[in-house]
Amino acid sequence: MSSTRDSESLDRDGMGEDAWKELMDNLEATIPVYDKVNSIVTLGQDKKWRRNVAGFIDAGMKVLEVGCGPGTFSENLQGIDLTCLDPSEAMLEVARQRVGKARAERGESEAQFVQGVAEELPLPDNTFDRVCCLFSFRDFHDKRKGLSEILRVLKPGGMLIICDAGKSNFLQGLAGRIWMGTVVQWVARRVTKDKNHPWKWLAKTYTHFGTISHYRKMMREVGFSNVRGRLYWPFFMAERFLATKPE
Ligand SMILES: C[S@@+](CC[C@H](N)C(=O)[O-])C[C@H]1O[C@@H](n2cnc3c(N)ncnc32)[C@H](O)[C@@H]1O
Repeated sequence: MSSTRDSESLDRDGMGEDAWKELMDNLEATIPVYDKVNSIVTLGQDKKWRRNVAGFIDAGMKVLEVGCGPGTFSENLQGIDLTCLDPSEAMLEVARQRVGKARAERGESEAQFVQGVAEELPLPDNTFDRVCCLFSFRDFHDKRKGLSEILRVLKPGGMLIICDAGKSNFLQGLAGRIWMGTVVQWVARRVTKDKNHPWKWLAKTYTHFGTISHYRKMMREVGFSNVRGRLYWPFFMAERFLATKPE
């Protein structure tokens, strides 16, 4: 991890070592109720966003999900050669079971599960047709480095698809913070039955998340072409980026 940064710091480009470790502890604590809370606080829209991202993947492609978490997205990808990467062994353990079971039921080959971070992908150059990051980009401790690594492992002409919490400008960021600070906290408290539930900490990463235009610029600077980023209609709670590795 970057040694020049204050260990507790958190900003739109990344975070320090201690901040990231605390984030990871909180993310792991969400595992038992991760899908349930997400579904409630996104008013069920999360499934629609995941289907939209999956629409950019064709049968036979070689696909990497960076920050696969418990496998919520990957388990439904069909007919592809799949690699799931996550830094957390606890997340990977759940993903292995969920994705493994779904693929076995469909008679598909096993997926590969890799422990690692986006900023240092333990994977070869020019390998994947698609790299997907669903609700994990916000957690990268060095977003520019993570994007450069993704560019490296994509095949020329391959595409990065990112889906994350929506923030197009300051006003929407304020509305999102109010939502995360009230509704999300209330739902998480009810579902976990714990006053100190992990969503208390997770709202921080949205507070410090940058705008769509900031990351579009970062993707172009890193070397992606045809970079696009937009909010998902109708609630504008999430955003999607598409970016291509030049041929
Ligand atoms: C909110 S979960 C998203 C899970 C899943 N992709 C989904 O569709 O819901 C975020 C995941 O990103 C992972 N993550 C955090 N920092 C990361 C990093 N630097 N590189 C790759 N993944 C990271 C976490 O371990 C966690 O499993």
